[in-house]
Amino acid sequence: MCGIVGYVGSKNAQSILLEGLHRLEYRGYDSAGIVTFQDGDACLLRVKGKVAGLDSLVNDSHRDDSIGIGHTRWATHGEPSERNAHPHNVGDIFLVHNGIIENYKDLKSVLETRGYSFVSETDTEVLTALVDSIYQQDKNLFAAVSEALHMVVGAYGIAVVAKDNMDEVVVARSGSPLVIGVGEGETFIASDPSALVGNTNQVIFLKDGEVAKCTRDGVTVKDSADQAVEPIVETIEMDIQAMQKKGFDHFLVKEIFDQPESLSATLAGRVVKDQDLLRLGGLNMSEEELRAVKHIFIVACGTASYASMMASYYIERFADDVVIDTVVASELRYRSFNVPENSLAIFVSQSGETADTIACLKEMKQRGVRCLGVVNAVGSTIAREVDGGIYIHAGAEISVASTKGFTSQVVALVLFGLVMAQAKGMSIEDVRPYIDELDALPEEIAAVLDTKNEEVKQLAADYSQYEHAFYIGRDILYPLALEGALKLKETSYIHVEGQPAGELKHGSIALIDDRFFEVAFVMDNELFEKSMSNIIEVQARGGHVIVVTNSSREIEAERVVRIESRLKMFTPLLFNVVSQLFAYYVAVNRGNDVDQPRNLAKSVTVE
Ligand code: F6R
Repeated sequence: MCGIVGYVGSKNAQSILLEGLHRLEYRGYDSAGIVTFQDGDACLLRVKGKVAGLDSLVNDSHRDDSIGIGHTRWATHGEPSERNAHPHNVGDIFLVHNGIIENYKDLKSVLETRGYSFVSETDTEVLTALVDSIYQQDKNLFAAVSEALHMVVGAYGIAVVAKDNMDEVVVARSGSPLVIGVGEGETFIASDPSALVGNTNQVIFLKDGEVAKCTRDGVTVKDSADQAVEPIVETIEMDIQAMQKKGFDHFLVKEIFDQPESLSATLAGRVVKDQDLLRLGGLNMSEEELRAVKHIFIVACGTASYASMMASYYIERFADDVVIDTVVASELRYRSFNVPENSLAIFVSQSGETADTIACLKEMKQRGVRCLGVVNAVGSTIAREVDGGIYIHAGAEISVASTKGFTSQVVALVLFGLVMAQAKGMSIEDVRPYIDELDALPEEIAAVLDTKNEEVKQLAADYSQYEHAFYIGRDILYPLALEGALKLKETSYIHVEGQPAGELKHGSIALIDDRFFEVAFVMDNELFEKSMSNIIEVQARGGHVIVVTNSSREIEAERVVRIESRLKMFTPLLFNVVSQLFAYYVAVNRGNDVDQPRNLAKSVTVE
């Protein structure tokens, strides 16, 4: 949510900042800006809309600028506009900010009495003025930023430059990610390591409350108590390939097609079929501790919460002495919930930076609950704050709508459930069918992509003009219906609801007429007939039903997508691939920006 870049070195700062912003644009894309400097002469470029708008503004007169900061925005305060775009400038100070300053109105009133006036509607401009007001006292930027942040309530990742100090960029974070890339005679700043790829793999992950002075020669860090901290430089592995479209038209479809590979990476070394072995290296829990678990909170937002819900349906099938609460983080954080004895909390997040999920993690830690993470982004806040966990290793997910993340999250959670159940005495005979199916799953997904792509493309063409839809399913297909509905609504802007199939008749069926289509997920199991009854009820009211099923039984529906697979338990993840492709092609048909849907941003680092 908002991307930050910064640079101090000897190269062309404008091109380094713009390249970084293009990589970070998936985090927010309603306005963008950079400021670079040469001997105190600032070149400030800002546009409403995407980073591409900045490319054409860059001019030769600032090619030698070797220090600067940049930002791509997802609006919180004030509409997307050039005036509200970052960097903001007040006095000598230029500042970019990711997050929300909650007490900005109070600070603004105080600053107005000191003669400051404001041109934007943003909290960021207020923070910029606050830093300037302190900076003017003794022109020490590092000290001024630290002092200003002591007066601030809220969340922030910031990068700051003073136009009369061409040697340093000061950065800080509290609740919003910030990473510093260490180069030879140059230092890079980004809110996400993906912006650093190709420049350096040596990074310092700033911790909450820390402030850092970045110069050409190195980095100085202090903590919130103004004590010097020795920065830890880590080497990160980032695959530039994962950040390219590899010949696909959009990241969304590329990431859907990535799934055989990304899921194989999730499983690698963890499911060893020929040894009947399941292992998870990073849990940091003994067998005894796993055995003791009686209650699990799985905490997440959006797609990650649907992945959690789906996984909980699986885990409940084999861990019968454990109660699982799958909870949406934005709700849990303000609930007065009880923590039963022997509880474990698992935080599921692709980005590892989702503010609501992090807030719940802090709360659980405070209550002494052991916390695990199921995270994709290596080195992210959640990954660093938990007691142990599972990296899903799905590779960079650039499209705002999460696809391969979902699949790997479900599988990683089921793996955890199986490892826990084994510690509790689940026999290898009972575990083996799961090992077999998990091992086969990447290939089965590849087969669906191979055989169903064209069919789903045509299906999408036939239903793209509808404005209303329901996704329905029973049991484990209910979370799938929720996820399918979310994927379609966020990419196509069609009004879509996900419902348990059996729940429609308790109210929602009142909506159905021939302006609706319904996607019904149906497994060939004991619930088949019940699902059929729900479909018939919908059709009787004029609804247009598309059934996605692994059954070869006769089905009366407008369209039937049949998945042939030898899988029994994990077919829902194959249905989900159909649902992902369908959402993608509907969005393309409607002419939408599929990778960066309106009003959204990847990684929601504000409340
Ligand atoms: C939807 C989507 C979001 C995220 C949610 C949580 O396609 O991507 O619903 O799943 O914002 O994000 P993470 O997993 O990064 O915590």
